[in-house]
Amino acid sequence: MILCVNLNAAIDKTIVVDGFELGVIHRPEAVKSLAGGKGCNVARALHTFGEKPVVTGWVGGTAGQFIEKALQTEGIATDFVYTDFESRTCTSILDSRNQVLTEIYENGDPVPPEKVAEMVAHFREIVDDYEAVSLSGSLPPGVPQDMYAQLIEIAHEANVPAFLDSSKEALLQGVAAKPFLIKPNETEVAILAAQEPHTLAEFAAAAAVISNRYETIVVLSLGKNGAIAARGNEVVHVQNPQVEAISAVGSGDCMLGGLVYGFSKGLPFAEAVVQGVAAGTANTLIIGAGQFKMADFERVQATVKVEVVRSA
Ligand SMILES: Nc1ncnc2c1ncn2[C@@H]1O[C@H](COP(=O)(O)OP(=O)(O)OP(=O)(O)O)[C@@H](O)[C@H]1O
Ligand SMILES: [Mg+2]
Repeated sequence: MILCVNLNAAIDKTIVVDGFELGVIHRPEAVKSLAGGKGCNVARALHTFGEKPVVTGWVGGTAGQFIEKALQTEGIATDFVYTDFESRTCTSILDSRNQVLTEIYENGDPVPPEKVAEMVAHFREIVDDYEAVSLSGSLPPGVPQDMYAQLIEIAHEANVPAFLDSSKEALLQGVAAKPFLIKPNETEVAILAAQEPHTLAEFAAAAAVISNRYETIVVLSLGKNGAIAARGNEVVHVQNPQVEAISAVGSGDCMLGGLVYGFSKGLPFAEAVVQGVAAGTANTLIIGAGQFKMADFERVQATVKVEVVRSA
């Protein structure tokens, strides 16, 4: 079982309208609501691999009930801490005529200190039931920037590998707690690198430096250019095949799901990274954040190219 920490849960509501205009009434063509958040996407990817992910984090109110129920309907188990305020709703308006997306993301209410403490205690209580834990996404208001660092330290005490995918201060503080693996993208890695990398050679060098400094595996995702992965001085570039990408939303989350899956299965380093790249690329082939088809995954996996940039 794998625990997917999703601290910033939301209802992800997509409203499809034919020609979106300001100041007028619209009658949508379609409305779809899903349980949203990067941890939910990681859980979806793991579920597609046939794993049993469990999502934790905070939910509250009727929106919280919806999120919990929606995940369970997808076959994903939940173990949330309940707040006494409503979970947020993130609304995307898709203009089907002009193919334009307008997004309205609520900040959500601040999580009070006693609920932060309850989450930490809950995590401490349950973490040793799991083979691995993923921690992904931004932190809701009120949550201290060292929240991921605290959870990673608790996971260490329980000997459970932690996989971190976050950004800015939460990533910077989280990586200092030495997670098993981090998955920054091109933008997120800048905060960890002495100089912002641009070329493949610079990304490879930065990944190795960060991996050595924090004693963590660094999987640096590069969109259609695949990923550079470093374990100490050992660096590989896994290049996915070029595909007709339909929607890359949630590719990073599917990649994290693939990485958790690959490393938890005990696959060798480069092969585990291949699982991540193939899941990320497979996600671009269908609409739906965190979704992919196993047939696409297998096709991509068979055609990725692994180049050893540097051996250990
Ligand atoms: N256009 C694309 N074509 C092929 N593969 C892609 C494409 N975009 C993403 N991928 C695959 O998905 C992986 C993760 O993508 P990316 O680097 O964009 O992550 P991210 O920025 O963290 O995404 P997210 O928006 O989910 O946080 C890539 O390493 C690659 O394997
Ligand atoms: Mg990402």
